[in-house]
Amino acid sequence: MVEKGKPTDNILRTSQYEVVMEYTGSLSFDRELYFWDIVGSLAHADSLLDAKILSKDEHEKIRKGLVELLLALNKGGVELRPELEDIHMNIEALLTDKIGAVAGKLHTGRSRNDQVSLDARLYSRERILETLEEIVALQQVIMSIARNNLESVMPGLTHMQPAQPVSLAHHMMAHWFKLQRDFSRLEDCYERANLCPLGAGALAGNTFPIDRFKVAEELGFRAPTENSIDTVSDRDFVTETIFCLSMIQLHLSSMAEEIILWNTPQFGYIKLSPRLTTSSSMMPQKRNPDIAELARGKMGRLSGDLISMLTMLKGLPLAYNRDLQEDKEPLFDAFDSAVDSLWAIRSLLTGAKFNVDKMRQSCLSANLTATDLADYLVNKGEPFRAAFLTVKMMVQDSYDKGKPIESMTIEELKKYNKLFGKDALDYIKPEIAIERRNIYGGPSANAVKKSFGTAEKMIKKNESCISKISDEIQGTINRLLGPSVDMQD
Ligand code: ARG
Repeated sequence: MVEKGKPTDNILRTSQYEVVMEYTGSLSFDRELYFWDIVGSLAHADSLLDAKILSKDEHEKIRKGLVELLLALNKGGVELRPELEDIHMNIEALLTDKIGAVAGKLHTGRSRNDQVSLDARLYSRERILETLEEIVALQQVIMSIARNNLESVMPGLTHMQPAQPVSLAHHMMAHWFKLQRDFSRLEDCYERANLCPLGAGALAGNTFPIDRFKVAEELGFRAPTENSIDTVSDRDFVTETIFCLSMIQLHLSSMAEEIILWNTPQFGYIKLSPRLTTSSSMMPQKRNPDIAELARGKMGRLSGDLISMLTMLKGLPLAYNRDLQEDKEPLFDAFDSAVDSLWAIRSLLTGAKFNVDKMRQSCLSANLTATDLADYLVNKGEPFRAAFLTVKMMVQDSYDKGKPIESMTIEELKKYNKLFGKDALDYIKPEIAIERRNIYGGPSANAVKKSFGTAEKMIKKNESCISKISDEIQGTINRLLGPSVDMQD
């Protein structure tokens, strides 16, 4: 009979040391940092050369060894050893295997505490760039749907109930501007992450003449960090990056929810591309919006990632504590989930067919222009509250009779208030109701066109931000590896 192993078996079978290593090691996830760890080491080796801790020859050996190691790791098939705890110790060991004892000079004036912060910052910079690019790509798709639907009317909802008519363009631009805030939040967050921790050492700096400004510049950072104790204990940049990614995911989850609803036969506002829906194992007719459901569901992971960070950091004494190692999985997961979901929503929207007739139809039976009818009376001199009560009565009657207010005749309108003239009938057409809302930030075609103008300016700024960050990152790689080496694949 096969018996289920007990959890203690593991402890009995292996030595105490192995169990400790298994529990404390981080290689299974921090191997993701190998590229930036080596780039960081190359920069540190340059500092050590300047500080005359490495001779030219030693520097060259270390440099060559590190580059070869990077290329081998890029290719795959290099064996990493979990018993060496983490990616930093593994790379040092691999370098030692390759070039001998001189590799041991590389860690002079550096601790894993400043090294791991460096790696996380370099990694975050690259992935923030990737996220920003994905945001812009989604914004472009949203904007083109908006541009094609300036005149498409649809019910705007509050409390998920029909409220007032809006255009599809205006509705889509609402999502656009949310993403724009996501962009600028992340841009801002990048600025705070873009500082160089090298030289902070374990917590108290180091005794070697390392030029922190020079190494910061070489790595494309804005400046070195200010305080060595703060530096090794600071995970604000990780937490706020995850917060920014959570806000993105939150916005995507709302979009996903809308896509799911609009794609139901009951709404019928959009039809998803069949290639982006999934079938059921039992019900042959099903075309399920699983991609959107996952983009909505992944918000659970993102909030988990954020809460993990906040909880892990709470009450930590200065300076480095091993708790901080728990930052990496949430960070990697948050980037993976948000970037993938940006792609997912973009693909769904790109492939979706919008049924604007259905949207227009749902405007008709919903008394969406009741507010406009009250506004009409206000323009004839009635106080808004009195006008509101008149129209409330009309709407009540309309519900009782099952006849929407738009289909009332002028005679019927006049029964409620003599001030209603013939023009009131036009007033309550959804298209006209939208056009009359020609206010800055409102839904009229004119106002939405203005918002396109504002958005275009923001896109220009986004693009220059992306190219600045991309230059900073590519510059770092060019300086340390030469222009011929590609970024991490
Ligand atoms: N793997 C560690 C982390 O991710 C690296 C730093 C370890 N430092 C130490 N003193 N044990 O935080």
